[in-house]
Amino acid sequence: MPKFKMPDKAETPKLLIQSPKGTHDILPDDYALYQSIFEKAEEISSYYGFRPIQTPHFEKTDLFTAAIGESTDIVEKEMYAFKTKGGDRLALRPEGTAPVMRSYIENGMHTLPQPVMLWYKGSFFRHENPQKGRFREFQQFGLEIIGEPKTIAEAIIIQVLTLILKEIGIEDIIVNINSIGDKECRTNYRKELMNYYRKKFNALCGDCKKRFKKNPLRMLDCKKPKCVELKQDVPQLIDYLCNNCKQSFREVLEFLEASDTPYFLDNHLVRGLDYYTRTVFEIFEDTAEKIKGAADEGENEKKTRGVALVAGGRYDGLAKTLGKKDIPAVGGAIGIDRVVQILRDRNIKPQIKKTPKIFFIQLGAAARYKSLSIMEMLRKAGVPIEQSLCKDNLRGQLKLASKLNMPYVLILGQKEALDSSIIVRDMESGVQETVAVEKIIETIKRKIK
Ligand code: HAM
Repeated sequence: MPKFKMPDKAETPKLLIQSPKGTHDILPDDYALYQSIFEKAEEISSYYGFRPIQTPHFEKTDLFTAAIGESTDIVEKEMYAFKTKGGDRLALRPEGTAPVMRSYIENGMHTLPQPVMLWYKGSFFRHENPQKGRFREFQQFGLEIIGEPKTIAEAIIIQVLTLILKEIGIEDIIVNINSIGDKECRTNYRKELMNYYRKKFNALCGDCKKRFKKNPLRMLDCKKPKCVELKQDVPQLIDYLCNNCKQSFREVLEFLEASDTPYFLDNHLVRGLDYYTRTVFEIFEDTAEKIKGAADEGENEKKTRGVALVAGGRYDGLAKTLGKKDIPAVGGAIGIDRVVQILRDRNIKPQIKKTPKIFFIQLGAAARYKSLSIMEMLRKAGVPIEQSLCKDNLRGQLKLASKLNMPYVLILGQKEALDSSIIVRDMESGVQETVAVEKIIETIKRKIK
């Protein structure tokens, strides 16, 4: 397939009906990047014992309201919720953890040997203000380990997610991490937080004034400059952790140290979903500002690192919110569009498992018909090709093959079609040989091995 050179936006005709705000088409070249990331993510996850799961793109709205929390931005402002003609209240999934936990319970996966380790991928939907790296339909690759209370689960999740980023070319990463404790720790902390903010109430933004009453922890998540300033001296959640939560956090940090994973203790990290307990984390690309500072000099200011590429945490209480008993679980998800953006900006090429090394040219009607069976023969033999089936011009196709850096070209002309042969051309030397069709797989495999 020829590479796409996209025309400038200014050159494209104005459509009467354009794509909805915050959505984007994934065109062939970018699709290859998405595909290569998903392939790598699936390969690594399967190797570590995760198995695939797919849940519907929409669920009952109540699932998300109960799981994510009524007073979170996702539920309050960003969910595509609608009522069907039959009167059901449904919502396009804004995230994958609640649906996976629903499926785990509904399908009796608690009866399987625990933990159950799952991966999923696909589109998620949030009515957010579109900006760089933020879309209304976006792709995630997620991992969940359900049924495991030990911190080895956090270690595996962070390990696999960081490995995926590294393997696709994002080497310098940093894990921003915090513990938000369990329910009891948070109840104590909430009181302190309210004492702190009570004196500053009038200076808070409108949303935070509401959060103060409904869900004060969410105030730590506010990005409005005024509120960011106000939270500078806020009491640290980590000082309110019970011994068990402290111990579990210590273990997670020990793992990060043992695996040489750079991390930053982010005391303000609470995440925008209510189902988390204990460990929460976000993974960023660590660009210019290397992680000097925080650990060495005792500073604890958060560095600006752009958007999070990955986020997750432990969610031991989620199953109970959905009507089951507590089930320990932990997970995380990669924002694939954000990763693609980085790879595209860096001109990093997709590493698809099999990149074609053969360009297939056919000339004339007889060759065109015959070419379909030859292509099928190549496909069955696991030889990927590039081709432009509808073109008849030899020079044009050779030019295209050379532009695509194809080392070999197969040429099927009228004559070859009649006597069941095919020409194999070495693009570097220009040398051509004619081979019988039944020998073609053997010849090609020998050349491209
Ligand atoms: P989240 O932080 O909402 O967590 O999303 C995870 C990642 O998805 C983010 O770090 C970001 O890279 C990407 N993402 C989120 N919203 C957008 C958007 N509007 N446009 C582009 N990318 C976006 C969750 O969704 C949790 N379910 C993660 C998890 C799994 N926790 C436990 N298990």
